[in-house]
Amino acid sequence: MASTEYTERTYIMVKPDGVERGLVGEIIKRFENKGYQLVAIELFKAEKTILEEHYKDLSGRSFFPRLIAYMQSGPVVGMVWQGKEVVKTGRLLLGATNPLESAPGTIRGDFCVDVGQNLCHGSDSVQNAESEIKLWFPRGVTQWKRERLDSLLY
Ligand code: TYD
Repeated sequence: MASTEYTERTYIMVKPDGVERGLVGEIIKRFENKGYQLVAIELFKAEKTILEEHYKDLSGRSFFPRLIAYMQSGPVVGMVWQGKEVVKTGRLLLGATNPLESAPGTIRGDFCVDVGQNLCHGSDSVQNAESEIKLWFPRGVTQWKRERLDSLLY
């Protein structure tokens, strides 16, 4: 198969409740088991302005302030995953937004019940994935690797 089929990337972010509950490894394991490749990862506290940009389509919704506060309530783990149709399949691995409607076997379906604490974010389109990766890894994944990995690998 053409190599371009494997260059699709998605932005996955373990939310503060996922980190607090020790589910980072579980979430990574599910993406690895499926056959996806982790290409960047950072533990950090999300900045308010970046969260507001990330969730700008929801800015008019009543839950927006609560969502931003929740996303700042502890560290998050931002990741870039790569592989064949990783955006769409990443969403399948996560399950529906409302965990009460997420199928068993999905991350949200298996580990949570509250839409306001649904453990993990995943980009919902290839275009949004590209913008979210730029937003959260502003120097780019290649530069991130250079800064974080070159000293270890070379
Ligand atoms: P959304 O982008 O609609 O879902 P998803 O995260 O599955 O792409 O919503 C973003 C987040 O906003 C969602 O993960 C949890 C929160 N949210 C609520 O707290 N209440 C709600 O009613 C909805 C729709 C979302």
